[in-house]
Amino acid sequence: MQPEVALREVAQAVSVCTRCALHFSRKRSVPGEGPADAQVMLIGEGPGFHENEQGRPFVGQAGKFLDELLALAGLKRTEVFITNVVKCRPPGNRDPLPEELSACSAMLEQQLEIIHPRVIVTLGRFSMARFLPNARISEIHGQPRWVDDGCMIVPMYHPAAALHQPKLRPDLEADFARLPGYLQMQPGPQKPSVPPKKGTEAETQLSLF
Ligand code: URA
Repeated sequence: MQPEVALREVAQAVSVCTRCALHFSRKRSVPGEGPADAQVMLIGEGPGFHENEQGRPFVGQAGKFLDELLALAGLKRTEVFITNVVKCRPPGNRDPLPEELSACSAMLEQQLEIIHPRVIVTLGRFSMARFLPNARISEIHGQPRWVDDGCMIVPMYHPAAALHQPKLRPDLEADFARLPGYLQMQPGPQKPSVPPKKGTEAETQLSLF
């Protein structure tokens, strides 16, 4: 099957999904968007108010900021795939519940399999936890690592977190600015350009390369 068609099928499945209680309150599901051959996939937390209205990811304040961050990496929104760990809005923008994350995980898995991006940028701790369950974002943000299938994971702060806590902004901007360099790297056990802090979990993981 063509990857574009496969992605549309996932989006269709998301739109009629009743696997968790979020479907009761959703206005529009937000499957994600972007080209099927995107090299970069960004994974956020879940739709907010505006995303729930429009059925598109990151279209509110955090989305405007995300566009600016992508520009720092020389990327346009139209060339990356943007999605979330949950595809329907948690009421009041609360954190997604474990049962919602697990109900929605099959959709994200399918998107990952279809797109197979070179670089996955996780935005915020819920998305990071899908790949690095015990990591602390403050310790490992911006540090790349490879997973089994040759994808590079780069955990980053969520743009909304940096809007609420301006002290996070320089780190988030610097992390995005490093993305072009990461895209040049070949899959495999290479040393990232930013060494992790001594004694952190990130250092332990990288020493496995
Ligand atoms: N925050 C997210 O995590 N995802 C969106 O789509 C919008 C805001």
